[in-house]
Amino acid sequence: MAKFKLKINGAVKNIDADPDTPILWVLRDHLDLVGTKYGCGIAQCGACTVHLDNSAIRSCSVALNAIGDQEITTIEGFSKSSEKIEKIVKEAWLTHDVAQCGYCQSGQIMSAIALLKINPNPSDKDIDRAMMGNICRCGTYTRIKTAIKTAAAQLT
Ligand code: FES
Ligand code: FES
Repeated sequence: MAKFKLKINGAVKNIDADPDTPILWVLRDHLDLVGTKYGCGIAQCGACTVHLDNSAIRSCSVALNAIGDQEITTIEGFSKSSEKIEKIVKEAWLTHDVAQCGYCQSGQIMSAIALLKINPNPSDKDIDRAMMGNICRCGTYTRIKTAIKTAAAQLT
């Protein structure tokens, strides 16, 4: 076990855990941030996507001791955020009724926001490339793409 100070969703949290613990389990088991989901555990499904600074990462496959000073943002951080891009994405998801069972959706939204932050006017190919690592068993891909385009139209 070791002690860490992690920047998460705008706050500093003290964590006492094994340095090799994947961030996903720090979020879920130590901080009760259960909006980030476990799917495959091997960086293949995207259910566990969070932001590390401004990049989307698979939290199941990044260890606690790799975080350092970087800030982690989870879906809970965005649900409280008043930043324009995050509000627009949330509204687009609701407008197009994207979620079905919902299990994959926090990861989908985190990847979509990461994409729009670096590219507010993505092409279809850009969207496909950015979202290809996020699997949806319910097959909501068409609605996800439509929602991203709706959000992008309001950003440009
Ligand atoms: S649980 Fe992390 S990518 Fe599937
Ligand atoms: S909405 Fe059910 S897995 Fe994506």
